[in-house]
Amino acid sequence: MTQSPPQEATAPPPLESYDLTDPQTFRDTDPQALWRRFRTESPVHRHPATTPVPGFWVISTYADVVALYRDNKRFTSEQGNVLATLLQGGDSASRKMLAVTDGPRHRDIRNLMLKSFAPRVLEPVVAGVHRRTRELVATALDRGALDFVTDVADHIPINTIGDLMDVPAADREQLVEWNTRTLSRHSSEDSEFEEVMARNEILLYFSELAAERRRHPGDDVISALATATVDGAPLSDEEVVFNCYSLILGGDESSRMSSIGGLIAFARHPEQWRRLKDGEVDVATATEEVLRWTTPAMHFGRRALVDVPLRDQVIRAGDVVTLWNSSANFDEDAFADPYRFDIGRTPNKHVAFGHGPHFCLGSFLGRVHVNAMIDALRTQVRDIELLGPPERLYSNFVDGYTGLPVSLTAEPAAAGKVTA
Ligand code: HEM
Repeated sequence: MTQSPPQEATAPPPLESYDLTDPQTFRDTDPQALWRRFRTESPVHRHPATTPVPGFWVISTYADVVALYRDNKRFTSEQGNVLATLLQGGDSASRKMLAVTDGPRHRDIRNLMLKSFAPRVLEPVVAGVHRRTRELVATALDRGALDFVTDVADHIPINTIGDLMDVPAADREQLVEWNTRTLSRHSSEDSEFEEVMARNEILLYFSELAAERRRHPGDDVISALATATVDGAPLSDEEVVFNCYSLILGGDESSRMSSIGGLIAFARHPEQWRRLKDGEVDVATATEEVLRWTTPAMHFGRRALVDVPLRDQVIRAGDVVTLWNSSANFDEDAFADPYRFDIGRTPNKHVAFGHGPHFCLGSFLGRVHVNAMIDALRTQVRDIELLGPPERLYSNFVDGYTGLPVSLTAEPAAAGKVTA
């Protein structure tokens, strides 16, 4: 046996050379290794400006991410809460959409929206989500080989949020397409212009639907927003439309991406699939690990209102800060052996849903979807085989997939029992 000559160790590129505004960076780089470097070498990192884009802060440890999420006195969401809008200098939905509103108005609108999204209120839809998921998985099993994204996952959360908002069934497929294009691109060939067009289509769509619900309210979330009052005054048309936009995006995209990522994780970790199948771990615990492992919302952001010292740096008033969930959820100081997919992980205080005052309004619904998918796979599927590489979204915001060729084999014990 010959021994290869010792390799000259090449220093990795400096962290400053990674452009986190460019989706391509997340295609070309091993995220685990990159985020480990940020956390250890430069946990409060100044991302350089690239003309015409200003510089910004990259926050990567769990402790700092949680602390900044919590701190809505010194950091605001009102000038945007994702990197793209923050770097443009503002969000046109500011103070008209819950996620980019702070202070008492945020509290009032959040309380209003929670009336439609609290666990107690949503309890009746849980059985429907499980039934729809079981049916789609059963149909997938009949086909054998399929695209798990377009044949299964694309049809579940959109129909839940679509039912809650009473969106006509015929329009839902189009909304899924717009949702995906708004938050991310399929490939580097798609332009940012398409993102803007898709966003405008959604806004236009809901302005027409909201106007109709103001005239003829029903028992749905759009009507609830259109007829609600805060301090005796109705919400403005723009508030209704922007919040519908946020609900259709939030309600569909992230839950979908987590479920797809969950399937991939089980296919790649057969020992965890076995644990799930054997009932060694309950579905609720596995759901939390799938949420942590997939972390569909890679980052959120804020703007500093005052100077804030953090570790050995000072974040200046007006600076943009980005909080990287996709790093915090893999921080060795918060999770034992974080790069192990361990469906029995407890405790598992991940930040996939954010933290603090803007903690995800739809976390219950998001969990229901991931839970339903894991449960359906566990009871109906014996084997999962990936038939090709998953097609990734092109994004620095949503971690997810546009295509996933798989073959699913039925669990004989479950055959014939699933389409109730
Ligand atoms: C907020 C993630 C599902 C609606 C957030 C935030 C995160 C997040 C990280 C915090 C944003 C910030 O701090 O700026 C997720 C994930 C989901 C999911 C990973 C599924 C796995 C949903 C669903 C809905 C929804 C199902 C709708 C029903 C919202 C809304 C906010 C929000 C309206 C803003 C809350 C506020 O500002 O008070 N989500 N989400 N999300 N999410 Fe979700």
